[in-house]
Amino acid sequence: MVGNGHETGAEPDTEAKYADLEQWTRSTFDVEAIDYRWSSQDYSTPDRLPYVGHSPLSRNVLVATGFHKWGLSNGTAAAVMLADLLAGRDNAWLPTFDAGRIGDAKAVGELIKDNLKVGKEFIGGRVARVKAIPAAELEPGHGGLVDVDGETLGAYRDPDGDLHAVHPTCTHLGCPLRWNPAETSWDCNCHGSRFDADGFILDGPTVEPLEQVELPVDP
Ligand code: FES
Repeated sequence: MVGNGHETGAEPDTEAKYADLEQWTRSTFDVEAIDYRWSSQDYSTPDRLPYVGHSPLSRNVLVATGFHKWGLSNGTAAAVMLADLLAGRDNAWLPTFDAGRIGDAKAVGELIKDNLKVGKEFIGGRVARVKAIPAAELEPGHGGLVDVDGETLGAYRDPDGDLHAVHPTCTHLGCPLRWNPAETSWDCNCHGSRFDADGFILDGPTVEPLEQVELPVDP
């Protein structure tokens, strides 16, 4: 089953999303067991059409992105368009998917809304950090913001009780990260970067891992 989508880094209780989906599935079908579950992440453009073609920032770079969960078909179509572009052939689809387009008024409105959200997240996420708890209160299997000697860190206590601590600020453009309990990851609501509990990159646009923090004594 699929469903219960949410914006990256915007949902505080991602476990509840899975629980809700499982409850619906069990009430609708005769389910013996649920062996696997996972979340995927995809990018959307403001007008929901992928960007394909020359990057607006460099003619020497070709892009294909914003598949809006339709990577199988959109990815294949993008490959055809880029192959034609490289070979100098005309392609009737390319103007519609133009990676440098601005879009109609609705798309521009979406873009402005998204950028305002980034600003709000940049400031609001920091204010929310007053909720950091003492690291010693973090139970095995749980993660979140912790206070270590007055500094707010991101931490995950693994099932063996070891603490994995990072600086929970996104290395893309500095937005505060949120803990995703269902995926045990640090997620950014600004542009969707994701990091694992040790700060390694799971998803871009960032290209820098998080700084790990060695705690002198495991609190
Ligand atoms: S600031 Fe985190 S993805 Fe851009």
